Amino acid sequence: MWNKTKATELLEIDYPILQGPFGGGLSTPELVATVSNRGGLGGYGAYSISPQEIYEVDRQIKSLTGKPYNLNLWVSDTDAPNGTVSDKQYERTKTFFKPYFDKLGVDLPAKPDFKTRFENQFQVILDIKPKVFSFVFGIPSADMLEEARKRGILLVGNATTLDEAIALEAAGVDAIVASGFEAGGHRPSFLEPAELSITGSFVLTQLVREKVKVPLITAGGIANGKGIAAAFALGADAVQIGTAFLATEESGALPEHREALFSDAAKKTILTRAYTGRLGRGITTQLAKEVHGKEHELLPFPLQTTLMSSLRKAALAQNKHDLVLFWSGQIAPVLKYRKASELMEALIEETGKLT
Ligand SMILES: Cc1cc2nc3c(=O)[nH]c(=O)nc-3n(C[C@H](O)[C@H](O)[C@H](O)COP(=O)(O)O)c2cc1C
Repeated sequence: MWNKTKATELLEIDYPILQGPFGGGLSTPELVATVSNRGGLGGYGAYSISPQEIYEVDRQIKSLTGKPYNLNLWVSDTDAPNGTVSDKQYERTKTFFKPYFDKLGVDLPAKPDFKTRFENQFQVILDIKPKVFSFVFGIPSADMLEEARKRGILLVGNATTLDEAIALEAAGVDAIVASGFEAGGHRPSFLEPAELSITGSFVLTQLVREKVKVPLITAGGIANGKGIAAAFALGADAVQIGTAFLATEESGALPEHREALFSDAAKKTILTRAYTGRLGRGITTQLAKEVHGKEHELLPFPLQTTLMSSLRKAALAQNKHDLVLFWSGQIAPVLKYRKASELMEALIEETGKLT
């Protein structure tokens, strides 16, 4: 029985298929519930919403499913010391991006700032007690992990290197997501800069499998039964799939984003800091190419996001998609399904035939 693994036993799910959580408004309760109701583990990326909004999202998820699901946060949610940058740095970034804003006829926003909210968000997780709490960009403190454990919450950390997986296991997590560079979205590295943590899913899965005992969830570049079967052959106990679920109607992606994932544009993706200030994979647009090699002009995460969201709004309104980043993993060109329920059925059926 391919679908009975250490991970399904731990997570109390029928199939070892996790829907990757998406931050930035791209997760939805509907997507989480569709995957969980079919026996996988739906995941909601909550890092970009307030503690109050997390309660509301959780209420919505609970109204749609009684099955286990995963809530996800970012342990480190800013790279800007004191949540801001000097006026000098902001002027420099403004000068770099002004031609793009001029092209769209919109003003640059005022200097942004940001206050970390991970600790407050985490208190909500303790209160809600989801079956699974997954996290990226670090490891919560030992006290925090203990508080979660006391409440029966399963802890899942994300590693982009073998050393990160070893650190997560030493911290006592219940399972580890090994995230290869093929994956869409941010590269959630925390021990070394993301640029120095570029390992593919197949290598990372094998390295982690050799050294780490807790259930291993492979993420990055998986979108069908072949990918799942391959990950299992390399030692995975489950897979986490992002881009293929992002492309379905149930995700929070804009119609333009979904179309881009199914278009020729998705044949080329790039790891870039252009859109948020942290390294992430999206479709290679003109802007991403032009920023390549000029990362020193960017604002630190998440301040760069504020700048780019003004640009994105105007670019979408004017149909200038070369100035927008559409998050995507490398696997997008093989995507077929536009409904999450159909994708789940296909993943289950295809994997069953191959294992
Ligand atoms: C748009 C987007 C946003 C993401 N946001 C998060 C996040 O907030 N937290 C997280 O743990 N993973 C996040 N991920 C990673 C996914 O959960 C998943 O691990 C990854 O997409 C798997 O690789 P794939 O895209 O090749 O399937 C994101 C991925 C994408 C595409």
